Amino acid sequence: MIIPKNDVRLLCDKRQFSIVMNNLVLNGIQAINGAGTIEVALAVNKDVIVIQIKDSGKGISKENIDKIFEPLFTTKQHGTGLGLASVKSIIELHGGIISVTSPPSIFTITLPKIVD
Ligand SMILES: Nc1ncnc2c1ncn2[C@@H]1O[C@H](COP(=O)(O)OP(=O)(O)OP(=O)(O)O)[C@@H](O)[C@H]1O
Ligand SMILES: [Mg+2]
Repeated sequence: MIIPKNDVRLLCDKRQFSIVMNNLVLNGIQAINGAGTIEVALAVNKDVIVIQIKDSGKGISKENIDKIFEPLFTTKQHGTGLGLASVKSIIELHGGIISVTSPPSIFTITLPKIVD
């Protein structure tokens, strides 16, 4: 797990935001299946905060990539398919957006820069 050296301040619902990070990191852990890396990166510019979670797993197929944020979509035997649907709704409730590119799988969260 590679975590950023820098820090950013973010005004958010702490409990909901930990659901976001837990789901994305857990998906990364499941994707690398015991061997590989998960990398978190942070960037800030004038208006937005960008958080990226990248893993070295095998990636998401073209066929599935448009469906992964849909509730109940899962390719896992014991998955609920609710992880990314929750992540997306929490990010959108914070005025942000989430997108994905794969492979390598990179989830990018862009949030308006609101600091208290
Ligand atoms: N980092 C990733 N690498 C590869 N595939 C992914 C990754 N993250 C999500 N996916 C794909 O998106 C699907 C939906 O993810 P989501 O987190 O919503 O549900 P889940 O992980 O299957 O189940 P749950 O989160 O409820 O345990 C996964 O089943 C998997 O196919
Ligand atoms: Mg999941």
